Amino acid sequence: MARAGKPVSGGFSPVLTVDRLAAKPLHRQIYEGYRAMIVARNLRPGQQIPSTRALAVELGISRIPVLDAYAQLLTEGYFESRVGAGTYVSSSLPDLLPSTDIGKARPPVDGSGPRKLSRQSAFLPDFHDPLWAFGSGPFSVGQLDFDHFPFSVWDSLVARHCRSVRAAALNYSDPMGSREFREAVASYLGAARAVQCEARQIMVVSGSQQALDLCARVLLDPGDKVWIEEPSYPLMRYALEMRGCRLIPIPVDAEGLDVHRGIRRSPSARAAFVTPSHQYPLGVTMSASRRLQLLDWAQTAGAWLVEDDYDSEYRYENMPIASLQGLDRSSRVIYIGTFSKTLFPALRLGYMAIPMDLVERFSAVRRVTDLFPPFLNQAVMTDFMIEGHFARHIRKTRLLYSQRRNALVQALESEFGSRLPVAGAQAGLHLVITLPDGLSDCEISAQAAAQDNLRLWPLSPCYLGKRVRQGFILGFAGTRAADMPNQVHRLKKALTPWL
Ligand SMILES: Cc1ncc(COP(=O)(O)O)c(C=O)c1O
Repeated sequence: MARAGKPVSGGFSPVLTVDRLAAKPLHRQIYEGYRAMIVARNLRPGQQIPSTRALAVELGISRIPVLDAYAQLLTEGYFESRVGAGTYVSSSLPDLLPSTDIGKARPPVDGSGPRKLSRQSAFLPDFHDPLWAFGSGPFSVGQLDFDHFPFSVWDSLVARHCRSVRAAALNYSDPMGSREFREAVASYLGAARAVQCEARQIMVVSGSQQALDLCARVLLDPGDKVWIEEPSYPLMRYALEMRGCRLIPIPVDAEGLDVHRGIRRSPSARAAFVTPSHQYPLGVTMSASRRLQLLDWAQTAGAWLVEDDYDSEYRYENMPIASLQGLDRSSRVIYIGTFSKTLFPALRLGYMAIPMDLVERFSAVRRVTDLFPPFLNQAVMTDFMIEGHFARHIRKTRLLYSQRRNALVQALESEFGSRLPVAGAQAGLHLVITLPDGLSDCEISAQAAAQDNLRLWPLSPCYLGKRVRQGFILGFAGTRAADMPNQVHRLKKALTPWL
């Protein structure tokens, strides 16, 4: 029988309970129980864990769920096994764990009744998984250079707008954002990205993520089929899954999303979400003919195209590629951009260019989610753009990041030769290396995080279907060119046992 609530001790007395009658599988209960205790520091790094046999006996359950849970915890780096000596809480965990009180959350009191959550929220993976994504490191994706950030200019603009706040700025405001800022963004997008829009079509958002979520809410209904790139940006996928959409993964080849395969697979999909300038994660730039095919399909099928142009400011080998939106003649493209890559992600500022006839619907839906964007960052960014600091910062960082990218590509070549092919390095702030068949990128990432304190973003979680490639997405923007050879050497040391 289930022994709900029975504490288990294994020489170190962790309090782990399982409930055999619960809907949640036993292996998941054990996995979550251990993980919560580790995150809450109730189990210390280096502490010994009972053997699977001992725990199974203590809990009065079969050994299989215990083995499954331990395997998962080992794969994710929460546990480490020492040959002949048993299983331990990973000894290098302290730096990796985020500050969180997740493990301290009190379970509901008995008899509190059902506590049902939405099916969509249960779809999403836990926020605290996995270890490789915590904090920053030499190859962390999304890590930028801050040594060259114009702090003094930024500080003085913030001070300017804090010193002389106009009462009018303190009121409720337009769901689309401030007029001055939208003017600045529209001029920038017209010139730098060939986006065809007026300021009236710009909506200011809290980064691309809010824009993706709004697109899903405004354009799609639960059950709608949506093309997504295979592989794709997981947070884009989750925004669509939260909406209850049916995702149709369409393979990406050297020219970007394969439109003909998309048409064969799902001709009447309601939308396609794409990253044409620098496909995430593979880094391919969508060819001109594919762009035209995609626009053609959208018009024939009556579908929407959502263009996530998240890092197009950084191109190193050829001229910037104009946006997909700029080629659109039937007002089917919603264009999304962000300052997360050009300035800093904590700014939480991005923008969309919305077809004119949809502006009212987007405004109505945005009002329900968070009313309108906060004023201060918009005011600061307006001056930052119109006084020329933004263009200067992009010029400076483009050069810097191209040096860092070159250093990474060279170091990878000298450490690995052609064994780990490099892709997608011509633009953006990350590239991809692929692993030989038979290796598991997630397993290697977990081990590198736990044992070498090295965060490697695995490629395989970006795939939705079964044909998955293993590899790593390596960010390079946050590591100085001079440090790159050392960091790649660390990478080699972490990979050597597997290669
Ligand atoms: C494909 C893609 N879109 C968007 C973003 C940026 O998101 P946000 O603007 O919400 O910070 C990222 C960040 O890594 C990304 O990789």
